[in-house]
Amino acid sequence: MKVDSIVGIIGWPVSHSISPLMHNHAFAHLGLTNWYYAPMPVALQPSSRIKDAVLGLRALGFKGANVTVPYKEAVMPFMDKLSDEAVAIGAINTIVVDKQGMLCGYNTDAPGFIADVLDHGVTIKNREALVLGAGGSCRGVVFGLLNAGCKKITILNRTESKAHDIIETFKPRFKDATMHAGLLDHKHLIKASAADIVINTTSLGLSPHEQDMPWDEDIAFHPGQLVYDLIYNPKETKLLQHAKKSGAKALNGLGMLAHQGALAFSLWTGQKAPVALMKDYVLSLA
Ligand code: ATR
Repeated sequence: MKVDSIVGIIGWPVSHSISPLMHNHAFAHLGLTNWYYAPMPVALQPSSRIKDAVLGLRALGFKGANVTVPYKEAVMPFMDKLSDEAVAIGAINTIVVDKQGMLCGYNTDAPGFIADVLDHGVTIKNREALVLGAGGSCRGVVFGLLNAGCKKITILNRTESKAHDIIETFKPRFKDATMHAGLLDHKHLIKASAADIVINTTSLGLSPHEQDMPWDEDIAFHPGQLVYDLIYNPKETKLLQHAKKSGAKALNGLGMLAHQGALAFSLWTGQKAPVALMKDYVLSLA
């Protein structure tokens, strides 16, 4: 059968991404042999490249794309339509080119993250969370947590103003939740370290800088806590090793990768994604 339905991943760099393997594996599993998922690196310079790339999806007859670092916020202005979640979050990771050629932006990171946490039997409703980092990924994670009923969230970031901005964005929509922002430093980490769920959305610890950690060695976690690192390369960051030593539950971002991918897969194909297969597959690759 000929390939007539192409999607892919836009980002810089994308050579490390396992999304192409994961999606092509899922297409093959469902017999969707006319579908293909391609890596699509878009250089940072000249800055007009990202606009050309996104508008090029329509011109080239693509069915859609994923968007990753650093373009999740930058591509928003080029969308013809945005889902409510995408507007609320302010970042997208999935584009669908509909039958009329409209570019429709979605965020499947937020529900993908929540699905993975719930998959592991962790309750979010009425719990307290500490989120490290305040970039595009943080926005999705915080929205997902608030939407799932998290009652208190602290965001700590190197650039403190970005953490405050995120809180200001979400406050009107989630009036019942308590939200704090602060600098990612020892004092604030100690103060918030007992949160039920701690999530790293920074790039600290990402290969090849495995020795970095958005945490301090002398601050222990405790059993009953979940420490979730969005990083999956390496499979076990220094943060997750530290969490395990303290008896906390430690999860990397592979489950979230599979869930956000499965949601994007369904948006493109209109079919239920083989999420268990996708999850097993990414776990086997890592
Ligand atoms: P993403 O879309 O994956 O969230 P991003 O928007 O570039 O990517 O955000 C990266 C996050 O990692 C930010 O919170 C960033 O902190 P700043 O907002 O201060 O830039 C954080 N980060 C990256 N390198 C860091 C470092 N060396 N120390 C502390 N935080 C770092």
